[in-house]
Amino acid sequence: EAGSAEHDVVVIGGGPGGYVAAIKAAQEGLKTACIEKRGTLGGTCLNVGCIPSKSLLNNSQIYHQIKHDIEKRGIEVGEVKLNLKKMMQAKETSVNGLTLGIESLFKKNGVDYVKGTGTIVGEHEIKVAPIDGGKPKSLRAKNIIIATGSEATPFPGLEIDEKRIITSTGAIALTQVPKKMVVIGGGIIGLEMGSVWSRLGAEVTVVEYLGQIGGPGMDTDMAKTMQRVLAKQGMKFKLKTKVMGGDVSPDKVIVNIEGAESGKAETLDADVVLVAIGRRPYTYGLGLENIGLETDERGRIIIDQEYRTKVPHIRVIGDVTFGAMLAHKAEEEGIAAVEYIKHGHGHVNYGAIPSVMYTHPEAAWVGLTEQECKTKGLSINIGVFPFSANSRARTNLDTEGLVKFIADKETDRILGIHIVGSNAGEMIAEGVLAIEYGASAEDIGRTSHAHPTLSEAFKEAAMATYGKPIHS
Ligand code: FAD
Ligand code: NAI
Repeated sequence: EAGSAEHDVVVIGGGPGGYVAAIKAAQEGLKTACIEKRGTLGGTCLNVGCIPSKSLLNNSQIYHQIKHDIEKRGIEVGEVKLNLKKMMQAKETSVNGLTLGIESLFKKNGVDYVKGTGTIVGEHEIKVAPIDGGKPKSLRAKNIIIATGSEATPFPGLEIDEKRIITSTGAIALTQVPKKMVVIGGGIIGLEMGSVWSRLGAEVTVVEYLGQIGGPGMDTDMAKTMQRVLAKQGMKFKLKTKVMGGDVSPDKVIVNIEGAESGKAETLDADVVLVAIGRRPYTYGLGLENIGLETDERGRIIIDQEYRTKVPHIRVIGDVTFGAMLAHKAEEEGIAAVEYIKHGHGHVNYGAIPSVMYTHPEAAWVGLTEQECKTKGLSINIGVFPFSANSRARTNLDTEGLVKFIADKETDRILGIHIVGSNAGEMIAEGVLAIEYGASAEDIGRTSHAHPTLSEAFKEAAMATYGKPIHS
């Protein structure tokens, strides 16, 4: 019985940060409970984030490809029809299988799964309001790990109803394809979910405040390539443009926009408006005030290098604290936080966390952008290789994109790798490993890569950094 004795570790939040921390803690022999209020495990990522969005991205891409890109491959098909309901069911099947999978991993590892909302009421005490409405219970913990995640940042003046003014949560669950969709924010969610609905037939316009798409941290060359490719697929972009507000009437939404520099005012019509201007830490009802824990101006819980709050046995990981809001970053922190608790040391290499955007082609990167290298005053060599010169991309009739290496001019040590290409998200793993091991561009350039594979473009971009590639 979860509430009967003191736990070594109580984790609040069952997302990628929290559930991984809980499993790891149990594997380390610590008596562990994980409190989750959603009713299912896996957090934002499995329930309404990474997993459902990737299901829709994959299946909408297959639909789009069969509809628009199949005849040149010597395949003739009859009428191609979308069955949105089935596409959504396929998504739910993937989500349900994976969230239940975590529940069985909890059982296998002996983690107590507590279904309810956790509020910290004392430095070692958490009150849980069960989701079935039963009597609140109390858990005592030697250590607490907070992993309560994040939520969509709302847009002032446009009230979210998840039907016509939606966040990503509405965007993975629409019941019909909108005719016109306006996306506020050209970051990762805007481009991924914009791609899904554009492929399924919506006319999608992305309004972005900055001068480039892709959100924070995307190399400018890659952002430009991505914008050109997505525009070719039918998405429209309004960069350096501010959304001023909107008028919701029964049949449409009118979005008022204004050039950020020109000041020129315009309106856009939409059936659905997707608000994708970032996410913010979620600490509602957590009870931080009960023990005097503080957040910064952006709502992130303040911690030190070892994930400790000023109450040292309370640690914080994932989206609710500093750093990139990525599932694999939260997972690494979950493991490190437990290692600190059990062994007194842990480690995450924040210079080697990959980012992937699952559009088609995908974009993926790790390390520094060219712009960041310039800001830091680093002397660099750049090597570029386009997929149009790669044999496998040519046989796949899928040649958009390039690989870009950035290495230190003196030492040739790799500083950053940026890819736009059909399998960029898988290919970047080699780049992450290279950076993790402190490899030089020449280390990669002298490593045999199978022929014909897309990864030869990776090798040749490395060769282009310190010498010349063979095929371009
Ligand atoms: P979360 O996953 O947000 O989990 C926190 C959990 O805590 C939630 O389930 C919440 O219900 C629970 N909780 C909160 N407060 C309490 C409380 N008081 N008591 C009990 N439970 C509580 N990242 C990637 O790396 N790759 C992707 O492809 C990707 N795609 C995404 C797509 C979308 C549409 C979105 C929105 C996000 C995506 N992300 C992706 C980001 C990823 O989902 C997050 O970085 C990740 O989920 C963060 O994990 P976490 O454990 O910190 O928090
Ligand atoms: P984001 O931070 O990636 O992008 C938000 C974009 O909106 C930025 O380009 C910003 O300049 C723009 N913006 C902000 N305010 C604006 C305004 N008022 N008008 C116009 N544009 C405005 O945030 P997003 O896309 O909402 O995603 C949130 C987080 O979720 C990401 O930071 C990422 O960590 C995570 N995520 C990761 C995915 C992945 O790894 N594949 C997929 C989806 C989400």
